[in-house]
Amino acid sequence: MATLNIVLLPGDGVGPEVCHSAVRVLERIASRYQHDLEIEEQLIGYVAWEAAGSPLPEATLTACLNADAALLGAVGDPRANELTPLDRPEGGLLALRKALGAYANLRPAKVDPSLVSSSALKPELASSVDFVIVRELTGGIYYGESGVVEGGAAAFDTMKYSVAEIERLARVGFDVARTRRSAVTSIDKANVLEVSRLWRSTVESVAVDYPDVTVNHMFVDRAAMELVLAPSQFDVILTGNMFGDILSDEAAAVCGTLGVLGSACIGGEVGLYEPVHGSAPDIAGKDLANPIGVLVSTSMMLRHSFGLHTEADAIDRAISQVLADGLRTADTASPGESSLGTRAFTDAIVEALS
Ligand code: NAD
Ligand code: IPM
Ligand code: MN
Repeated sequence: MATLNIVLLPGDGVGPEVCHSAVRVLERIASRYQHDLEIEEQLIGYVAWEAAGSPLPEATLTACLNADAALLGAVGDPRANELTPLDRPEGGLLALRKALGAYANLRPAKVDPSLVSSSALKPELASSVDFVIVRELTGGIYYGESGVVEGGAAAFDTMKYSVAEIERLARVGFDVARTRRSAVTSIDKANVLEVSRLWRSTVESVAVDYPDVTVNHMFVDRAAMELVLAPSQFDVILTGNMFGDILSDEAAAVCGTLGVLGSACIGGEVGLYEPVHGSAPDIAGKDLANPIGVLVSTSMMLRHSFGLHTEADAIDRAISQVLADGLRTADTASPGESSLGTRAFTDAIVEALS
């Protein structure tokens, strides 16, 4: 029996809806495997800025730092567009990742056999997809010096990576590769960017410690193409913050929908788990969100932060089983096919866990 001290950060838009699914699944897991579940809910994002004047209130950060793990729904609200970078909901998430030292973001992409027809790719390509994006998460252009200058006539963002930042991320990538097909593709823009040339040489120097893992370098523009033309060549994609963000949404198209991808933000003492999708303002509050992304994140949390592999496997199996039974949310239903709302789909997953 374990005690699971989890901070839940529902956030904005569809965040609360998908987090509700995660709580129901965690409750089911806790009762079936006899764990003591302690969930503390905290504010983040636009709702936090509205209620407490900050997208990452002190109480939220303190709770996360004292928890075993944090599970996030999503942040982002169209009403925040006029706010300063630090007040924006996204700023709250960036500050949280940084404060937790969560420098490595693992984003697995694999098409469930039942969802092959939802993929943007031809079936034979879709079924071959099985890679993990290992994305640097607390550095690069997201955290570089930036500003608006010349009285608003110009603006700048800067990208900087240190050898130490690249090295620690590369080690995570190579370690993940060892648990899979032992192939790393490092993605950069070394034909143009100085940072990318440092990235490449640093990845090469780390590779020396992993003679059993193959490493291959690819420019990001080529990678964007290869991801849809020949995705089976990718096992571990190792890349920086912004390229990883962009390729993640491409990976979602390859998998059929943003709604099914989950992620783990690791490297610090407390892991942060978040679906890859955002607050989806277009469907928020309509019981339309696919909860699979947050449930995959929940499964990753049980595995990485708690070492509960049987429980994580049970969630993964329940998702696959419900899909094999033909149940779908709107984003994955074929035209004319009926679909379930977030709540009813979650009911089916909870039932499959019984
Ligand atoms: P988005 O991921 O919110 O939505 C993109 C599209 O995918 C929309 O059509 C949406 O309806 C759909 N979608 C997303 N999640 C879904 C789900 N679970 N089920 C079904 N369909 C889903 O991206 P966006 O529209 O570019 O951004 C909206 C807001 O979300 C912005 O404020 C952005 O900054 C924020 N955002 C936050 C996160 C995060 O919290 N981790 C991630 C990405 C974007
Ligand atoms: C993601 C999101 C975030 C990112 C935003 C909301 C800060 O797009 O998690 O993919 O760019 O990291
Ligand atoms: Mn993104």
